[in-house]
Amino acid sequence: MQTIQWSAAYSVGDDEIDRQHRRLIDVINRLGQLLSGGHDADGATAQEIFDLLADYVTSHFAYEEQRMVDAGYPLDKVEAHRGEHRRILKSLQAFEVKLEEGNGETLRELLPFLYGDWLTHHICAVDSDYADCLAAERSGV
Ligand SMILES: [Fe+2]
Repeated sequence: MQTIQWSAAYSVGDDEIDRQHRRLIDVINRLGQLLSGGHDADGATAQEIFDLLADYVTSHFAYEEQRMVDAGYPLDKVEAHRGEHRRILKSLQAFEVKLEEGNGETLRELLPFLYGDWLTHHICAVDSDYADCLAAERSGV
């Protein structure tokens, strides 16, 4: 898989959330390296990268949900968004179980999930929906 570069298409217009999303891209790229070379540039194992992801996702989703509430994003939309986050968390937990069971195909399945479901679908489509709300909050509208 090609290395993913950050681009404006991924931006939600909020520096902190964008910074956190860059970390997800970094994890995807490290997993890609791991799959093609047996280890990533830092020599981390699959389990170490997965642990990093598990830590990251909990704090990232909590941060994002709080920002939405603080910015006055409609509560029904916050709730729907939380549901999407729960869906991603559930999938990650299922991947973790498979990884612990030593299923060798887990990482090959995890990569398209992170790239397709999370980065392309969730960040580009679902997260971008609150971008206008954060922008309005910043401009004091
Ligand atoms: Fe989100």
